[in-house]
Formats: sequence, C-alpha cells, structure tokens
Amino acid sequence: MRTQVAIIGAGPAGLLLGQLLAKAGIANIIIEQRSRAHVLSRIRAGVLEPGTVALLDEAGVGQRLHREGLPHGGFELCIDGRLQRIDLQALTGKQVMIYGQTELTRDLMDARAEAGLESVYEAQQVEVLDFDGRQPGVRFVQDGRARELRCDFIAGCDGFHGICRASVPPALLTTHEKVYPFGWLGVLADVPPVSPELIYVRHERGFALCSQRSATRSRYYLQCDSQARVEQWSDQAFWDELRRRLPAAEAARLVSGPALEKSIAPLRSFVAEPMRFGRLFLAGDAAHIVPPTGAKGLNLAASDVAYLWQALADFYRGSELGVDHYSQRCLQRIWKAERFSWWMTTLLHRFPNQPAFDARLQEAELSYLIESAHGRGMIAENYVGLPL
Ligand code: FAD
Ligand code: PHB
Repeated sequence: MRTQVAIIGAGPAGLLLGQLLAKAGIANIIIEQRSRAHVLSRIRAGVLEPGTVALLDEAGVGQRLHREGLPHGGFELCIDGRLQRIDLQALTGKQVMIYGQTELTRDLMDARAEAGLESVYEAQQVEVLDFDGRQPGVRFVQDGRARELRCDFIAGCDGFHGICRASVPPALLTTHEKVYPFGWLGVLADVPPVSPELIYVRHERGFALCSQRSATRSRYYLQCDSQARVEQWSDQAFWDELRRRLPAAEAARLVSGPALEKSIAPLRSFVAEPMRFGRLFLAGDAAHIVPPTGAKGLNLAASDVAYLWQALADFYRGSELGVDHYSQRCLQRIWKAERFSWWMTTLLHRFPNQPAFDARLQEAELSYLIESAHGRGMIAENYVGLPL
C-alpha cells in the first residue's frame, strides 16, 4: 500500500484532516484501531468556535451543522447563586455553535465515504516506522493479515492514549502535565435544556455545567471525586445533586429523565513539545489535553489540523516553510487555550481541602472580572477563540 499522508486515528482531527487534504488533491488513508460504531458512540464536546465552523465549511461538511446546530450569542456564569451573562455577541461580535462531536464525526465519516476515500477501521497492532527518514510507513494487522503502508508523511491524530506520541524517542520530547483532583460526571438525556444558554456554575458543593445538544436533548455535568465510579451514581442521585447546585428558579425548572449515557472524564492539562518529528506530525489530543471547562479540546484539534493541512499543501507546491513552522504555530495557540482552560477550571471548581480563604478569593476574582467590562471582554474573547 502507498499514499501521500497516512493518518492515524479517525477522531475529529484525523477525519477533518483527511477531508481537507483530499480537497487539496493530496491522497490519504486513515488507519483507526476501533470500529466506526465505537468511534460514533463516544459522547464528548459540544461547543464549536466560529473559526472551527469556518474550517468545517471550507472542508465542505458544514451543511447539517448550519441546519441543526444551535448558534449561541452568550452563556451564563452562576456565582454564589446569581446568574451573570457573558454576552459573546455584544463583546466580540461573534457566536459559538452548539453541535455535538458525535454529529460532527458522523458528517465527516459520511463525506469521506461519499468521496470514496480509504479508511481502515479495526486495525490492530498499529506501528509507525522510519519517520526520521524520507519514506515513513505504518504497519498494522487487518482481518488477521499483516499490512504495510508507505507514505510521505504520518499525521498522528490518535488521541491522548495513541501510539504516535509514544513512538517518539523520549529524549526528543518535552511534556508538561497537570492532573486535577476531580473529574466530571456527564449525563446525556432526552429532556429539554433547563435554560436557552449554557450555564457554568460555581457552587460550594462543586462545579456544574448545563449544556445541550438540541431543544429536546440536554447534556449536564457535575464535578465529582476523581476516584468516583459511574455505577455509584444513580440517575436520581445525579439529578438531585444537580438541583442542589443550581439557583432555585433553574432547579425548579429542571426536567429530569433517564440517562442515555453517563460517564466520568478525568480532568487534565497536558502539552507535548514539539509537535513535529521529521515526517511525523502530532495533532489534537495526541499532543495536548485541556480540561473541558473552556470548551477548547475539539477546537484546538481543528486548529492544529488547519495548520497541518496548509503546511502539507504548501509542501506539495514546493515550500517547506509551513512544515518547518507547524509546531511553533500550533503551540502558540495551544498555550493560550491551556491558560484559559486552566483558569476557568481553577476558578470554577472546588478543590479538596481548599482553605476557606482560597475559596473566597476564587469568588472575589470571578466577581471582580465579571463586574468589569474588561474582565467580561477577556472571558468572551477567549471563549470564542481566535480566527484561524
Ligand atoms: P480523539 O477524539 O481521541 O480521536 C483519536 C482517535 O484515534 C480515536 O478514534 C482512537 O480510537 C484512535 N486511536 C487511538 N490509538 C490508536 C492506534 N494505536 N491506532 C489507530 N487509531 C488509534 N472536549 C470538550 O471541549 N468538551 C467536552 O465535554 C469533552 N469531553 C471529553 C470527554 C472525554 C472522555 C475525552 C477523552 C475527551 C473530551 N473532550 C471534550 C475533548 C475532545 O473530545 C477532544 O479534544 C477531541 O476528541 C480531540 O479529537 P482527536 O481527534 O484529537 O482525538
Ligand atoms: C458539552 O456540551 O459537552 C460541553 C459544553 C461546554 C463545555 C464542555 C462540554 O465547556
């Protein structure tokens, strides 16, 4: 087998890169270890920045997103039981789009199938080879048969637990990591959202987030213990705890129902530097993780892909500049998003054994920012993200 770009991983990063490269006339094959159905069953992010939406339009996969996505011109921060709106539209002139990662993944998979582009699902024992030379390759097992794919470049879009970053000699890689002492328990349910916009809640019992997927489907999260297991949380316990963390009017309005999905995500900040090793590039969660509080994970994966697609298109037109600057360009943006996500997480969550003084400071800092036009503008600008 031979192609120009071998893409490892069929998450949003790998699928979007494949689509953009194909539009630029660059051949690519995606190698994914899980089944298509498994990839589609993962419930994850929900907020797309305008830059991400523009990139999806450019890739030709924005039709359903514009039809079914929910444009949001603001969100609520609930501090000490009081709702305070961050008016994204007024502060930045921009809106974000609520559209589930699952839907986006489905659109990208459909577009790939329609364009007749090759993907290998359920590939086993995936290995990346010779990326320090000019003829890198990927070895894997498909339906019990060993296969080898030769290519010009490898795009490591295989998420945090993938093999691409793990294949880089440790001496070439610097990693920065912070693990938070709590997780998020998420529930997806076919109930109308409690409020037209997202609500991020800082509460003495812990953080909560009211999000949504449509007028009839809600996504809610609760800060939980980092050791907690999903089985310990009945649906009833989840809804009762969410009501406790909401202001009285929202708690009274909250409609509960059976959980379609319930899962716990650990919270972590992580960056691997650099993101290019010869002919191997890392993109998305393979290179960095943000805690979901800033809604940046999926958007950062999209911005890496935008830069990588442009760099590879330039390469095939004869310029290596984009390829050489890929890592630096991505990392500048990544550290801005890391800062915002860490900041939102630090101010909105309750830390175990947190001194009362620190908790009051959290509250004071949030109030200080929300009450100033500058503070609100800073939050809004970070939330909608930079143009690509
Ligand atoms: P992924 O979506 O992880 O895709 C990587 C793909 O590579 C997967 O399909 C995987 O099966 C495949 N793969 C892995 N190893 C191999 C291998 N060896 N060979 C071949 N293929 C391989 N972000 C938010 O903004 N809000 C959220 O609420 C939110 N919740 C999240 C919950 C969880 C549990 C996780 C893990 C992430 C969450 N994120 C959230 C982050 C967001 O979903 C990610 O940033 C986004 O999925 C990144 O896309 P990606 O394509 O880089 O990685
Ligand atoms: C979601 O809808 O899943 C979601 C929204 C906003 C976040 C995180 C997750 O900050």
